[in-house]
Amino acid sequence: MPSELRHSILLNTGRLAGFAIAAAIILSLVYALTETRITNQMLAAQRQALNSIFPASEHDNDLISDSFIIDINSSEYSNLELLGLRENSHAYVARKNMQPSGLILPFVARDGYNGDIDLLLGVSIEGLVTGLRVTAHRETPGLGDLIDLRVSDWILSFNNRSLVNPELSGWTVRKNAGVFDQFTGATITPRAVTVATAKALEFFEENKSRLLSL
Ligand SMILES: Cc1cc2nc3c(=O)[nH]c(=O)nc-3n(C[C@H](O)[C@H](O)[C@H](O)COP(=O)(O)O)c2cc1C
Repeated sequence: MPSELRHSILLNTGRLAGFAIAAAIILSLVYALTETRITNQMLAAQRQALNSIFPASEHDNDLISDSFIIDINSSEYSNLELLGLRENSHAYVARKNMQPSGLILPFVARDGYNGDIDLLLGVSIEGLVTGLRVTAHRETPGLGDLIDLRVSDWILSFNNRSLVNPELSGWTVRKNAGVFDQFTGATITPRAVTVATAKALEFFEENKSRLLSL
């Protein structure tokens, strides 16, 4: 092969390799930057959601960095089954001036119309509900899905409730002599959420010192 041709092939191969390396570096930089941005956005959304369950005015710590895992096989809690959890789940401690002011507890209502309803309960150290939210469910659109704050504000009727307001017998829907509204044509879903929330509050009362390391 003439040396000019060989030189030109080598030059072009070198250029190609150079481009490929530069492209790979640029791509991985863009990926790293995008990934960090996505993670930050997810954290911000999570933080905002948690702050709506435990108002930012009632705590001055970062709930996400003050979280711990409730291990469903742990023997350190009493009556862990009250939470209905199927897998290890995060709980979040709220603090004001370093002192615990409450907790966000994960729990599951297992008897929804279409199965599990995953929830988060914000509860103050005094046992008052600061916020309740459904995080996952398969309830029927237009019937059971009114438990979702995006669909109706029913879930806000739990704010400021506690195990003495109403007393335990009132923690069900009106149809069963409770104080919480059922939905038109759908009693099963709101009853499941109401009863499970009372159980989560009971769990909190029974395990408060352990949960908040008091
Ligand atoms: C297709 C279909 C979907 C339904 N979805 C729900 C639901 O998501 N949540 C619910 O509470 N009830 C749902 N219902 C109604 C329940 O079957 C039940 O009639 C209603 O909850 C009243 O319950 P109660 O008899 O305990 O008062 C659904 C019914 C049908 C036929």
